[in-house]
Amino acid sequence: MGRLIVVSNRVAPTQEGRPSAGGLAIGVLDALKETGGVWFGWSGEIVGEPSEPVIEQQGNVTYATVGLTRRDYDQYYRGFSNTTLWPTFHYRNDLSHFEREDYAGYLRVNETLARRLVTMIRPDDIIWVHDYHLLPFARCLRNLGVTNPIGFFLHIPFPVPEVLRTVPPHQELVHFMCDYDVVGFQTEADRQSFIDFIERGHHGSASEDGMLHAYDRLLKVAAYPIGIYPDAIAKAATQYTDRKAVRSLRDGLRGRKLIMSVDRLDYSKGLVERFQAFERLLQNGPGWHGRVSLVQIAPPTRSDVQTYQRIRQNLEGEAGRINGRFAQLDWTPIQYLNRKYERNLLMALFRTSQVGYVTPLRDGMNLVAKEYVASQDPSDPGVLVLSQFAGAAEQMPGALVVNPFDLSQMAEALERALSMPLAERQARHADMMTSLRENNLSVWRDTFLADLRNVATAASVTAKAVKQPIKLAHAKAA
Ligand code: G6P
Repeated sequence: MGRLIVVSNRVAPTQEGRPSAGGLAIGVLDALKETGGVWFGWSGEIVGEPSEPVIEQQGNVTYATVGLTRRDYDQYYRGFSNTTLWPTFHYRNDLSHFEREDYAGYLRVNETLARRLVTMIRPDDIIWVHDYHLLPFARCLRNLGVTNPIGFFLHIPFPVPEVLRTVPPHQELVHFMCDYDVVGFQTEADRQSFIDFIERGHHGSASEDGMLHAYDRLLKVAAYPIGIYPDAIAKAATQYTDRKAVRSLRDGLRGRKLIMSVDRLDYSKGLVERFQAFERLLQNGPGWHGRVSLVQIAPPTRSDVQTYQRIRQNLEGEAGRINGRFAQLDWTPIQYLNRKYERNLLMALFRTSQVGYVTPLRDGMNLVAKEYVASQDPSDPGVLVLSQFAGAAEQMPGALVVNPFDLSQMAEALERALSMPLAERQARHADMMTSLRENNLSVWRDTFLADLRNVATAASVTAKAVKQPIKLAHAKAA
């Protein structure tokens, strides 16, 4: 069998133990470590001149990374990927901004990355491309004559057609996605939005077996919810329980209950609403004063994008205001930390807490929700309060599911979680562990890759490399 080549913009840090950024890096690294293969993408470095990939071998994974020039970074990463696609795909088209030059840069970088990868591809490799930075990547590879099976997985939500249409080159982007052999989404709702766009625009039609005929191609479109390895996480959480940082947090609590939240500092995560719902808990329940603390860990990301600077300021203001309103000499209600922690340490912190508070306004999956549950002590587990707008809500039957736009409902859920009897906590935890084990990370990877192999063989899509130059109405040469 050929190698697995994974392509993503962000490649996980190659050194063990370093904090990694986001669910994609964690999920892909864990999945790739088992099968082995090549991981190709951006090194995270800004370079003066584009250069050939730097190759590094770690166990059975070959990392092949390239730098981006300042212009590429600004247009492709900071610009079209994170100022247009990210907000719109998270239903924040009010925060989205489009520039033709950025889109041209996005296409150019996809082509450049494809050219860098192509010399490394062997005839029997299969290629698995990840996330919104690389929607045109299959087209770029096909144009270079690559006939290998190419699959795509979107880690973030796919918006309903009305929202997608606010991105000017939406038609081209969807057409690009149909150049893959398999397109995977986190949830059924995301998959349906994609099919709706295709069918309502008369670009093709889906059949019952998950196949889609669109733009003269046949591809598989399905939901593959990403998972974790729950037992490995449980083990790590136990092993790290005696670490100094965990002990000092526990000692500092002096018997108080702990609500834990961990997110990248992103406006999609609903952090302001989360703080305000906690404020409402304290406002409505004076009995909680001095008896519960919220620890919010939020490492800043994409801090050179303006919308991220604004959310950071907002959040600092809110944390300060709420603490000013309720703090006592020996109690700070919200501990707000803008730094990264090692993943295993976070798992141990989760295990120490009574509530996992995961309330994004919109999220592809949210692996923190799954990790929180897996980290718990089954004999005395904490309770997960989870947004209905996280992909994880489809799979976490034992969570207290909330609407993050309803502060009162969130405050009530916190109250209920903090007061929940042991037997109910145990039953909910056991239910969720069963689902996490049945849908673990190997299932995600293996189901996707099996579909990719089958579709590529059955439809012989690999036989014909479609040559369609990228020449688009919405991009002008930058
Ligand atoms: C999300 C995205 C990933 C991204 C990660 C971190 O999880 O789905 O593609 O890598 O955020 O964001 P960053 O911009 O730092 O790569």
